[in-house]
Order: sequence, then structure tokens, then C-alpha cells
Amino acid sequence: IYTKRIFSGIQPTGSIHLGNYLGAIKEWVKLQGEAECPLWSIVDLHAITLPHDHEELRKNIYQMAATLLACGIDPQKSIIFQQSTVSRHTELAWTLGCMLTMKKLALLPQFKEKSETLKNIPVGLYIYPVLQSADILLYKATDVPVGKDQLQHLHLAQHLVHFFNGKYGDTFPVPNPLINESSGSVKSLKDPSKKMSKSDNEKKSLIRLIDEPEIIRKTIKKAVTDFTSEITYEPSSRPGVSNLVLIHSQMLDKSPEVICKEAQGLNTVQYKSLVTDVIIEKLTPIRQEYIRLMSAPDYVNSVLKNGSLRALPLADKCWLEVREKVGF
Ligand code: ADP
Ligand code: NA
Repeated sequence: IYTKRIFSGIQPTGSIHLGNYLGAIKEWVKLQGEAECPLWSIVDLHAITLPHDHEELRKNIYQMAATLLACGIDPQKSIIFQQSTVSRHTELAWTLGCMLTMKKLALLPQFKEKSETLKNIPVGLYIYPVLQSADILLYKATDVPVGKDQLQHLHLAQHLVHFFNGKYGDTFPVPNPLINESSGSVKSLKDPSKKMSKSDNEKKSLIRLIDEPEIIRKTIKKAVTDFTSEITYEPSSRPGVSNLVLIHSQMLDKSPEVICKEAQGLNTVQYKSLVTDVIIEKLTPIRQEYIRLMSAPDYVNSVLKNGSLRALPLADKCWLEVREKVGF
């Protein structure tokens, strides 16, 4: 009874890396043809749950919009919008928060991880999964591309749907996770036991989408491998080489097995050079488009503005229904 609707969000925190691209955005680009009109939200309200700089945040929101467009998110096929421009997100989040126990929220793993190093924990950090549920429910999303690390948050959204529907009658579809198997699978180039992450301060651990070819070449050259020169895919015993094979395979949409077969006879040094060429070839058009968009603010801002204008009526429609049912 519910139309298929895809929703996902990405935090505007700094320039994104190969892991974000292969684990999320590349899939989003593919999903564009599949449903009514997917919504991709730049979730700035989530980005303030941890300390931030206001100039930096504003810049990051713009950069994320430019990045999504450069990667192939098409405003004709998708709605790209800035979360905070649709105030219904916070209104629904409040309403949902009132239907949830502290105990249930406390169980979520990300809160524990993210608050571990903080002396003073913002309330926003604690309740942000509720806002995430609101993001999804507000558009009656049926399918939500998520990383494996976000699965428990999606279960919270499902729980809230059951609760709301049970109390007020069918209102929301139960959102279905579209788990990207690649999420979290790209490892740090310096320490392949960890995932490639923005928060890693070791610069040589990651490749940003907008890195210049020379930087990419240097970073891959220094990537940690082992003393076997053969190219094989054995993530647990040979994490370094396997990480390069995985990146290579995901860039070309080929299986790691095929990649290894094609790399037969190459030693690690030669293979690194091959992987570098593939990455540079795939990222160059993205980088060039990104650079073009960084100096086309009228266009990028109009895409965001349009996205908000298209998201607003969808959000309003849902919110009216919620108000009615809750008794406002
Ligand atoms: P980061 O860890 O760099 O802060 P986020 O947590 O903001 O990244 O994740 C944004 C998206 O990118 C998520 O969908 C996540 O699953 C994906 N992602 C992040 N890091 C990786 C990685 N190393 N490999 C694959 N996907 C990743
Ligand atoms: Na993260």
C-alpha cells in the first residue's frame, strides 16, 4: 500500500574519502533509477551533535552538495536537500522522542562509542537516533540504504513505526534496510585493521575523492602491504593487499577473484601502480566536476533550494497526519 520511497542521509563533515564513496554514494547513484524519487539529505542537524565551527559547517554543507552532484547524484532523478531547511524533521523527532524510553536509547552502540572520549556529553548526541528515525518516517521511506554500523538505528525506526502504527493505526511503512555490503569494508591504507575514516588523523591512511593524482600515487605507494609479492585476496591473513584488491574491485564492479586473476604475474609494486591508475581514472572526472561546482554557487545553491521545495510538501503532508493522530 505504500509507494516505494528511498531515503538516506549523509553528514556534512569534511571532504569524503574512498570508503564513503564506495560504501555509500556510489550505491546511491545506482539507486536513482529504482524508485519514485529518492531523497538524499545533507543532515546538518546531525553534524552539530559534536563540537563544530560554524563557518566550517556552512562550507561543509556546500561541499557535500557539490560532492554528491559530482559523484553523479542527479537532481532530475533525486531530491537533494539540506535537512535543517525542513523544520518538520525536528518536530517529528520531538514527537517520536516522547514515545521512547531512555532505556531503549541507552542501548544503542554508537552513543557509547562517540561519548567515550567526551567529558560533557551533549543531549543531542544521545537523542540523535530519534532524529534519524524522524528523517526516515517523515517521508514514509520504505527503503533506507545504510551502513552495517547504522543497522541498530534503523531497528529503532522500525520499533517506532510499530509503536506509532499500533497506537494510532497504519501511518508509516516499516522501513527496510538496504545494507550495502561494502559499507565499512574499505580499510585504512596505513593500518588495514581499522576502517578508512575521516576521523583518522594520519593523512596517509585515506584517499579523498578530490585528492590530486600525485597525492593518490604517493598514498598508494606508501600503503601497508606484506612481504609476499603475489596478489591474492585474503582479508584476514593479508589485510593490506586485500584492501587494495577490494578497492580496485569495487571501483570497477568486478569481483576480487577476477581482479586477482587479472593481476597474476604482477608484484606488489607493479600492482600498486595499476590500482593507482584505476583510482585516478575513476576519480578524475569526479574531481574535475567538483572543482567546477565549487565555483558555481548559483547552480549548487539552486539545487539545494529546489530540493527543499520538493521535500517540504512531502514532509508537511506527513506531519499533518501525525498532528491529527497525536491530538495536536
Ligand atoms: P567516517 O567514518 O569517515 O566518519 P561516516 O561514519 O560518516 O564515515 O559514514 C558515511 C557513510 O560512508 C556510511 O554509509 C558508511 O557506511 C560509509 N563508510 C564510512 N567509512 C567507510 C569505509 N571505510 N568503507 C566503506 N564504507 C564506509
Ligand atoms: Na563515523
